[in-house]
Amino acid sequence: MSSRYHQVYAEWQRDPEAFWATAAGAIDWIKPWDRVFDPEYGVYGRWFVGAECNTCFNAIDRHVERGRADQLALIHDSAIVGTVKKYTYAELKREVVALASVLRNQGVGKGDRVIIYMPMVPEAAFAMLACARLGAIHSVVFGGFAARELATRIDDAQPKLIVSASCGREPGRTVAYKPLLDGAIEMARHKPERCLILQREQQRCELTEGRDIDLADAMARERAAGANVDCVPVAATDPLYILYTSGTTGQPKGVVRDNGGHMVALHWTMQNEFGVSPGEVFWAASDVGWVVGHSYIVYAPLLAGCTSVMFEGKPVGTPDAGTFWRVIAEHGVAALFTAPTAFRAIKGQDPQGAFVPKYDLSKFRTLFLAGERADPETLKWAEQKLGKPVIDHWWQTETGYPITNNPVGLGMLPVKHGSPGVPMPGYDVRVLDDAGNPVQAGMLGNVVIKLPLPPGCLPMLWNADQRFRDAYLREFPGFYKTADAGLVDQDGYLFIMARTDDIINVAGHRLSTGGMEEVLAEHRDVAECAVVGVADDVKGQVPCGFVVLNAGVNRDPAEIEREVVELVRERIGAVASMKRVVTVKRLPKTRSGKILRATMQKIADHQPWTMPATIDDPAILEEIAEALRGRDSV
Ligand code: COA
Ligand code: AMP
Repeated sequence: MSSRYHQVYAEWQRDPEAFWATAAGAIDWIKPWDRVFDPEYGVYGRWFVGAECNTCFNAIDRHVERGRADQLALIHDSAIVGTVKKYTYAELKREVVALASVLRNQGVGKGDRVIIYMPMVPEAAFAMLACARLGAIHSVVFGGFAARELATRIDDAQPKLIVSASCGREPGRTVAYKPLLDGAIEMARHKPERCLILQREQQRCELTEGRDIDLADAMARERAAGANVDCVPVAATDPLYILYTSGTTGQPKGVVRDNGGHMVALHWTMQNEFGVSPGEVFWAASDVGWVVGHSYIVYAPLLAGCTSVMFEGKPVGTPDAGTFWRVIAEHGVAALFTAPTAFRAIKGQDPQGAFVPKYDLSKFRTLFLAGERADPETLKWAEQKLGKPVIDHWWQTETGYPITNNPVGLGMLPVKHGSPGVPMPGYDVRVLDDAGNPVQAGMLGNVVIKLPLPPGCLPMLWNADQRFRDAYLREFPGFYKTADAGLVDQDGYLFIMARTDDIINVAGHRLSTGGMEEVLAEHRDVAECAVVGVADDVKGQVPCGFVVLNAGVNRDPAEIEREVVELVRERIGAVASMKRVVTVKRLPKTRSGKILRATMQKIADHQPWTMPATIDDPAILEEIAEALRGRDSV
C-alpha cells in the first residue's frame, strides 16, 4: 500500500486550523469552540478556545453509552505478583465513579490538584480518570523517585490530596511507599489534607490517623451506596494534568497538558500513526509515571475505544525474556510500544530469540520504540526475530505524542534504521545552527519546531510562564527548542544525535545530571563535582559522578564514593541508577571556569577525544583517565 502520509501532511500544512477542526470531530464536546486557535491567548496561543468538554467522558462514558460497555477497556497484568485483572468499559466506569466520589467527598473539585504516587496498579489509572471526571488536575509522580523528589512536586503543585499505595513490587524486593510518602510530606512546606492509601496484600502499612484513608474501603462504600458522579464540564484549555520532568536543575519543570487539544491529538494518533482501531488491544510497556504511560497506557487507547494493557513487571527476569511475548499472546496485543532498553535487555538474555516462537503472536502487527535512541543493531534484531515492522519514533514529555513517526495507519513509509521517522502533521520541524540560521539537509544542528505547537503540546509550565519562555522559546525566536541535536536528510527523515543540555536518558528515563550534581555537592566531604552520562549496553546511558574532596579530608575515598552513591539513591531515587562515582584530584575546566563535561564523557566512554583549546591545565584530563582505569562501579 502506498502511504498517504505526504498528502495528509500537505493538508495540515495548507490549513492547520481546518485540519485540527476536522480531527476534533472525533471528540464529544459539551460546547463547541469559539476559535480553533487563538494566537493572542496564552504564551504562544491556545487551541479550541471557548470549548467545553470532559476527558473522562470521552475516555469512558461515551463508549459505555455507544456499544462498548462489555468490551475490555483495561487489562492489568502483573508479571511480578502473577495476577491478571480485566475491566470492561462498564466496570472501569464503576471503579472511576467510586474513586471520583471518594475524592469529591474529600472536597476535591475542579482545578484542585491531586498527586498520584503509585506503582503500576489499576487504581493509578482509576485515580487519573477520576480526577479528569471532576475537572481536578492530577500530577502523577513516578514510584521510583524518592521522598525529596516527591516533596519538591508537592510544594510546586500544592495538592489537596495524595493518592498512594502501601508498596510497589520490583523483582526480588518490595518497595515500601508509605515511608517515602510520609518523609515527603514531612519535608514539604505544603501539607495535603488527606492521603488515600491502597493497601496492597504484599505489604500493608500503618495508616496515619486523621490524615490517611483506606482507598479500597472508601471505594467499596461508594460502590455499595450506588454513588453517581457526573462528568464536570471544563474548558478545553483547562489543565488535565501536570507532569514534572527533568530540567537543567534539581527543580523539575511542571509540564501542563490541557483537556481539549490533548484529546484531539491523541485520538488522531491512535489510528493514523499507530494503526490501531477501536476494539483492538494496545500495550504501552512503560509506567504511568512517565508521559508514555499518561498518553499511551491511559488516555489515547481509551479515547479511541481500544483495550489497554497495563503491565507490572520487567522485560527480563519476571520470570524470563519471554514475558513480553506471553503478554502479547495472552491478551491479543496488536501493537506494543516500549523503550529500546527493554529490547536490549531481552536481546542480552535471549540473543537467539528462542522464546519468541513459543508464543502465538498472530495478532501482533507492529512494535513501536521511543524514549531514547534506538540503536540500529537492536532494531534489526527485533525486526528479524519478530518478523514485524519495528518503528522508531521521537517525542518528549512536553509534546505528549510523537513529533516524528512512521505513520503506519496512513500506510507505512520505508524504514531507515537510525531515524525516528518524518514529521507528523502539526509539527514543522527545522534544524538551525547556533545563530538560528537553517542548516542544509544532512547537516547537524539544533532541532526546533516552528510555533505554534499543535494541540496537546504543553501550553505552559505550571505557574512558570517566564521559565517556559526562557527554557523553550527565547533562544530561537518563533520556534520551540527541543534541546535535541540532529539532522534531517534529503528525504525528510530526522536523525536525533544528542541532547544539547544536561539531560541524560537512563533506560528511557529522563534525568538531569545537573540535579544529580546538586545532590553530590551536598555530601560534606565533596568540594566540587560533575556528573556525565556514559554509554551502557542495556540502559543506553548511566550517570557517572566525579568528585573532588575537600582539602584535609583523609577518609578512604572508596567509602565516600559509596556514601555518595547512597545519597543519590536516597535523594533522587533508585531510578537514577547512579552506581559509579570516582574521586579525582581536580576537575578539568576551561580558562573561564566551565567544567569540560563533554570531554570527560568521551574519556569515560573510551572514545577518541581531542584536547580542548580552552583548557586551563591539560594534565587534568590524564588524571581523569587514570582515575577511571579499572573503576567500572563502586
Ligand atoms: N518503584 C520503585 N523502584 C523502582 C521503580 C518503581 N516504580 N522503577 C524502577 N525502580 C528501581 C529498580 O528496582 C532499580 O533499583 P535497583 O537499583 O535496586 O535495582 C532502579 O530503580 C532502576 O530501575 P530500572 O531503570 O527499571 O532498571 P532495572 O535494572 O530494574 O531494569 C530494564 C532494567 C531495562 C529491564 C528496565 O529499565 C526496563 O524495563 N526498561 C524498559 C523501558 C521503560 O519502561 N522506559 C520507560 C519510558 S518509556
Ligand atoms: P522524555 O521527555 O522522557 O520523553 O524524553 C525526551 C527525550 O528523549 C528527547 O528529547 C530525546 O532526547 C530522547 N528521545 C525520545 N525519543 C527518542 C528517539 N526515538 N530517538 C532518540 N532520542 C529520543
